[in-house]
Amino acid sequence: MNALLIANWKMHYGPIKAGGWVRAFRRERLPKDVDIAVAVPHVSLAAARASLGRASIPSLAAQDVFWDKDGSFTGEVSASMLDEFGVQYCLVGHSERRTYLNETSEMVAKKAAALQEAGIVPVICVGETAAEYKKKETNKILRQQTTAAIAKLNPDSKTAFVFAYEPIWAIGSGKPCPSQRAREAHEVIRGVIAKKMGETVAAKVRILYGGSVDSNNITEYITTTGIDGALVGGASLDPRVFGLLCRTAVPS
Ligand code: PGA
Repeated sequence: MNALLIANWKMHYGPIKAGGWVRAFRRERLPKDVDIAVAVPHVSLAAARASLGRASIPSLAAQDVFWDKDGSFTGEVSASMLDEFGVQYCLVGHSERRTYLNETSEMVAKKAAALQEAGIVPVICVGETAAEYKKKETNKILRQQTTAAIAKLNPDSKTAFVFAYEPIWAIGSGKPCPSQRAREAHEVIRGVIAKKMGETVAAKVRILYGGSVDSNNITEYITTTGIDGALVGGASLDPRVFGLLCRTAVPS
């Protein structure tokens, strides 16, 4: 199973800058045997695709989707629309969306299922707040969020699904979660998947760590058992910095 590294630009880079990032990143020396994706704002998908051409590295990812196929949902974008850009992965339930847009676990489940049905790999983000971490409620929160998120997924689908453990207090804070704590969290997530969908399915699910990952700490995470890659925000905005992170993660 290849490690998966996903750049999450968040609300950065419209079409003009997106094309430049992709071209610059393509000039980086990139390791083999690793999957790399870049999650761009919807409005930048066309430009990113145009700059990529037929190249498959990095894969294209989206940051959100709506659950219905089409209809009266002003402002929303469906999985089949994302598919028209050759999108392979799509984030769902990022904590910023749960916090600022009141995205619920029910919505996350519907989005993940819609993506899977369209053949796009959902990257389901879960994680606890600082207050929950302090109260030692992390495992409880992860069990709740994971159980809810997979409720509508089909374990027999050819389209995989991915989880990203992102403790909210570690995102953009420069205070990454200790790798052994992250390892425990990943075990909890995988445990829930195993219980609901079986060990075989659970063993194949890639669980990424996200939250202040950079080229100095990526090795620690990637070499930790049960951590299958990273979701990278701040350290992905500069294509050369993200290129270095990819090379550090998987030295050739
Ligand atoms: P960060 O963001 O790497 O800037 O902490 C990660 C994320 O929110 O996906």
